[in-house]
Amino acid sequence: MSDQAAKLRQMALNSSILKSPIKQGSKSRVITVTSGKGGVGKTNFTVNLALALAGLGQKILVIDADFGMSNVEVVLGCSSRYSVLNLLEDGLNITDVVTVGPRGIKFMAGGSGMYQLANLSDAHLQHIVSQISLFDNWADIVLVDTGAGLSRNVLNFVMAADEVIIITTPEPTAITDAYAMMKAYGVQNGVAPLRLVVNRIVDLDEGQMVVDKLISVSQRFLDVSVNNLGYVYEDRNLVKAVKKQVPLLVSFPEAISSRCIENIAQRLLYGETTQRPRGMRGFFRKFLEFIG
Ligand SMILES: Nc1ncnc2c1ncn2[C@@H]1O[C@H](COP(=O)(O)OP(=O)(O)O)[C@@H](O)[C@H]1O
Ligand SMILES: [Mg+2]
Repeated sequence: MSDQAAKLRQMALNSSILKSPIKQGSKSRVITVTSGKGGVGKTNFTVNLALALAGLGQKILVIDADFGMSNVEVVLGCSSRYSVLNLLEDGLNITDVVTVGPRGIKFMAGGSGMYQLANLSDAHLQHIVSQISLFDNWADIVLVDTGAGLSRNVLNFVMAADEVIIITTPEPTAITDAYAMMKAYGVQNGVAPLRLVVNRIVDLDEGQMVVDKLISVSQRFLDVSVNNLGYVYEDRNLVKAVKKQVPLLVSFPEAISSRCIENIAQRLLYGETTQRPRGMRGFFRKFLEFIG
């Protein structure tokens, strides 16, 4: 680990974030949304899930962790003056760089078109997470939208989360890559249950087939628990919403894909939860453990 990383780590360990008493009931639930393949619908899902959860009275912070290729702002239709870059380069605090979007959700943009953001050092990642931790007392749920694939940036956020949602579509390439993500999670000794969302299904049988396939191969070959969180239909309204830059749930609340995402939000809130949220402090500890 570099000197800078060691210093930042020490600063973080000494900081009040980790020392302040854990307030029962005030911990954020940290959910990372990821996929193997790109373009499967992570960002649209995350943004609309955030809106659905906010509609159910939850305080939501969305972190765009697809650093350098940030899309949350675009899908949300809400431009942000600052991004993670200001956190890293200008010494601003997270409270300065978050923007308030529809339904009171807060989000931090991931920066766009900046090469250095695509390959952040561990020290930078730690700094970002220690800043996000400051929201533990505010956010009920922190949703982290990642990039695709098995890069270190992505895996760090996957490994540290309380819960991980893996999105796939019914395409064989997307399924294969979702499996690769599950495998990587198992290899790194991930323990949180992985929750599958199959996006762009044409009928329920198709969704069920994808889920059955992924659950059965994971049971045979991997030491991870995988369960089904739900499906989202292929829906032209979603494409229209992206073009209008008004999120699906706002522009087409009655659309079938909106209903699907609302169902998933309900399931996340009221369905059985297997994990007790460890809050942002827990997330941060896991993050440090994984970076090692
Ligand atoms: N349920 C869906 N129905 C129709 N098109 C979809 C759906 N989900 C995603 N898309 C299409 O896929 C594109 C990529 O989605 P996005 O959320 O940006 O993916 P990712 O974040 O995984 O790269 C969207 O702009 C839209 O055109
Ligand atoms: Mg995306």
